[in-house]
Order: sequence, then C-alpha cells, then structure tokens
Amino acid sequence: MKRKISLLTTAVCLSLASSVAMADALRDRAAAMFEAIPQEPPVIDGNELTPEKVELGKMLFFEPRLSASHLISCNTCHNVGFGGDDYLPVSIGHGWQQGPRNAPTVFNAVFNAAQFWDGRAADLAEQAMGPVQAGVEMASTPERVVDTLNSMPEYIERFKASFPGQDDPVTFKNMAVAIEAFEATLITPNSPFDLWLGGDDAAMNDEQKEGLALFMDKGCAACHAGVNFGGQNYFPFGLVKRPGADILPEGDRGRFEVTQTATDDYVFRASPLRNIELTAPYFHSGSVWDLEEAVAVMGVAQLGAELNDEEVHKIAEFLRTLTGETPTVVYPHLPVSTRETPRPVSMLDTTY
Ligand code: HEC
Ligand code: HEC
Repeated sequence: MKRKISLLTTAVCLSLASSVAMADALRDRAAAMFEAIPQEPPVIDGNELTPEKVELGKMLFFEPRLSASHLISCNTCHNVGFGGDDYLPVSIGHGWQQGPRNAPTVFNAVFNAAQFWDGRAADLAEQAMGPVQAGVEMASTPERVVDTLNSMPEYIERFKASFPGQDDPVTFKNMAVAIEAFEATLITPNSPFDLWLGGDDAAMNDEQKEGLALFMDKGCAACHAGVNFGGQNYFPFGLVKRPGADILPEGDRGRFEVTQTATDDYVFRASPLRNIELTAPYFHSGSVWDLEEAVAVMGVAQLGAELNDEEVHKIAEFLRTLTGETPTVVYPHLPVSTRETPRPVSMLDTTY
C-alpha cells in the first residue's frame, strides 16, 4: 500500500513537472517573439513628454474646433472610452461623408513602426496633421487651426508652457507634437497575456494557451509579432488567396498608392492586434464584425490554411487575452471661443 502511494505521488510529481516544463517552454517561445506593453509611455525622440505638453495634447485631441464644423475632434473617431476607435465599418467626417477605411485604434499606436493601414505617416506627429486637413474628416486648414488657437489666450499660455524657449510656439506643427505626446500615454499594460508572459501561470486558461501555441505554430506570429502583435511590416492582403471584394475592395490598393510600386499592390501593414476584441469591425474595409470570422479569413488569405472551428475559436480566445488596462482619461475643460475665433462652417456644407 505504502509503495503504491509513493508510486502514485511520483507519477503525479512527474506529470506536474512535465506540465510545468511545457508551460515554461511555451513561455520561452512566446518571449522570443512578443513583448509586454511597458508600464510607462516610451521615450519619443525629440518630443519630451512633459506634463504641460501631455495635458495640452489631450485638450487638442478633444478639441472639436480643430474641425471646420466645430463638431468633430480626434476623439469622435478615436473614442478613448470605446477602444480608441469609432466602432463603425468606415469613419464618418465633415458633411457626414464616409471615408474609405476603418479607423484603427489610437491605443498603443505609439509602438507601430509607421501609421495608417498603408504606413504612409512615419510617426504620430506627422499622422496628426492629416485628419485635420482631410476633406472627409475635419476639413480645416493649418492657417485656420493657428487662428483658432491664437484666438483663445489660454491656448497661447499653454503652448508657451509646453514649448519653452520658442518665440512663436502656436504652430500647426506644435499642435501635432503635443497630440503625439498625449497619444504616447494611451498605452494598455497588464493584459492577461502580458501577466502570463511575466510568470503568472493563472492569467491565461488552457484554451487560451492552446490558442497561443496555434497562433505561433500556424504562422500568424510571422506577421503579427513584437510588442504590438503587428504594426511593424507590410504584406499583401491575400498573400496566398485573395479575399472577395466585400472584404478587400478593388478600389483600395493599399501601399501601391503610396509607393507606386507593383509589388506593393494590395499591400497593407500587418495590423497590431492588441485590444483586438475592442476594435471590431475588422480589416481596413471594416467588413467583418466577428473576431472568429476575421481569424478564419486570415487563415485562408495569408496562410492558405483552412483552420477548423476549434482552432479558430482557440486562437480568438487567445487574442482576447491581449486586452489590457485602458487608460483613464479625464475629460478636459476647453477654453471658451472669443470674437476672434473663426466661426463654424456648416457640417452640411460639403463645398467647404
Ligand atoms: C473622421 C474620422 C477621423 C478623425 C476625425 C480622425 N481620425 Fe484618425 N483615423 C481615421 C481613419 C479612418 C484612419 C485610417 C486611415 C488610413 O489608414 O488611411 C485613422 C488613422 C489614425 C491613426 C493611425 C493609427 C494606426 O494604427 O495606423 C492615428 C494615430 C490617428 N488616426 C490619430 C488621429 C488624431 C490625432 C486625430 C485628430 C487630429 C484623428 N486621428 C482624427 C479616422 C479619423
Ligand atoms: C503574411 C502576413 C500575415 C499573416 C501570416 C497573418 N496576418 Fe493577420 N493581417 C495581416 C495584414 C496585412 C492585415 C491587414 C489586412 C487589411 O488590410 O485589412 C492583417 C489583419 C489581421 C486582423 C484584423 C485586424 C484589424 O484591426 O482589423 C486580424 C484579427 C488578424 N490579422 C489575425 C491573424 C491571425 C489570427 C493569423 C493566423 C491565422 C494571421 N493574422 C496571419 C498580415 C498577416
């Protein structure tokens, strides 16, 4: 009897030891490919994140008077209470015009190698100048923005405090630099995956761990790796099999429109997958609402693999462990308009 017990104990110990070894092996493989979101915002070359600048950037992010209509702010399409996007297939801007693409989240965007689905902006500051001027987004101009900001004494003071030593700190460029500083704080640490990667075995369940193994074994991680699980490189959407025009509309040729190079036809940035469960609908066309369906589409289009329902489900469950702690953003008080503030253009005036 005694002998039996000790054999049993040995067997239990052995199987425990091997499952610990397996868990460690999975963690080692994952640690070689992925990285946790840091607790603090990253350092940005040439843009020191002072409290004054981050606060100004937050005001500008929520400032609807950066748009011609005084109705649309960055937060309209990148709602920080809402996953950092607008939960629409494609965004609606000035004149209720529909843009061509789905809005990506601003959360963790600071970790992307370049911004936009086609990577056409090098960094967040360059990016921020785009939507303010885009006719289908905020429909303003750099001059109008500078006039607007200069019309409110509080903004002049805040630009001076944020850009000390500059003679004329209220510029379109500094608007973008301040917004970038605020956006750098929009990071989401402590996701279950990150806690697990840091050694907390209980942070992910078995199904999620199997999903992680599939994500690596099937080849998803070849394109979706690093701290953001993507956002670093470009690949044809439909590398193996082109999806239908409902998912990949023919009119949007991705990076080809940026580089005019044939090999960039229908090439897009491998999407960052952090907080993916919060940012439906999926793909640049915003055509797929269901995460499981998006995973299945990727299997066929990028890997030529028909994943079965169980595999799709496990991978999606793993992707749901990438949801981190979203930052608490206190809504800013914005200064009141003055006589000098340019008047709003009607939201319905699409000739503007
Ligand atoms: C009308 C909706 C709308 C408004 C307003 C808007 N955006 Fe966007 N934003 C989008 C869409 C759509 C894209 C993707 C466009 C593309 O890839 O061609 C985007 C892309 C981005 C990206 C790139 C993220 C990534 O992962 O590539 C960032 C960052 C961003 N916007 C920040 C801002 C800021 C800052 C403002 C305010 C100055 C702003 N947006 C205003 C809709 C909007
Ligand atoms: C060859 C590179 C490549 C591989 C392999 C790959 N992807 Fe992607 N993935 C992309 C690209 C490029 C996009 C952007 C597609 C677009 O333009 O809409 C994307 C988009 C996605 C999206 C939508 C993101 C969003 O914000 O809308 C999900 C989800 C996704 N991939 C998951 C996966 C999964 C799961 C796998 C493995 C089954 C996988 N991917 C394999 C390159 C790849």
